[in-house]
Amino acid sequence: MRLDRFLSNLPNFSRQQVRLLLVERRVRVDAQVVADPHHEVREFSRVEVDDQLLQAGRPARYFMLHKPAGCVSATFDRQHRTVLDLLDEPDKDDLHIAGRLDYNTTGLLLITNDGQWSRRLTQPRTKLPKVYYVETEQPIEAAYVAKFLEGFYFAFEDLTTLPAQLLPLSSHSARLSIVEGRYHQVKRMFGFYNNKVTRLHRERMGPLSLDPALAPGAYRALHPAEIAAI
Ligand code: URA
Repeated sequence: MRLDRFLSNLPNFSRQQVRLLLVERRVRVDAQVVADPHHEVREFSRVEVDDQLLQAGRPARYFMLHKPAGCVSATFDRQHRTVLDLLDEPDKDDLHIAGRLDYNTTGLLLITNDGQWSRRLTQPRTKLPKVYYVETEQPIEAAYVAKFLEGFYFAFEDLTTLPAQLLPLSSHSARLSIVEGRYHQVKRMFGFYNNKVTRLHRERMGPLSLDPALAPGAYRALHPAEIAAI
């Protein structure tokens, strides 16, 4: 929300007072004086007028997990271990997953409490490539490459998948880059050829690659430059 709107929504100040407070440089956001009425205030921002705290803000948190096979990308599950069970962090209720992976899929999983950030990662509109290493039961034919580029019609969603880059690595393995994250998308794409995916591992989401130092099940906080890259 814009800073001027945030301030005038509070019972403390009228719109005119808000304009004056900004001009008089009495407003601080995250410890910096801000005079721009358009400045974006988020739930993570600390907002002060003079020495009065108007919003404490809460810490934005971002983690990269090497998801192991045999665990669900959910915050709660009655039966199975969840990816959140792998995190030793407080207030886990606050966290969500930016782009789920299937139960047996491994690799890069990003977990955060910042909804705007995770939407940028997952919205097809932003076209961030998600890169997977894939192994299949049947050989990967040369003709697949053109079909992955052309797109697959998914009747359930009534859509055709956006162009995807398939790079065969061997007779039964490939690297695949897709910009969407439809339900079981990779498996359904290979399913068009009745070719079962036997291994699926996410290597990268946009500019963020899985840290090779992370063993399956391990995680770390993202570095500021990684957060800013999205
Ligand atoms: N596509 C799939 O089919 N499964 C995943 O886990 C991720 C992408």
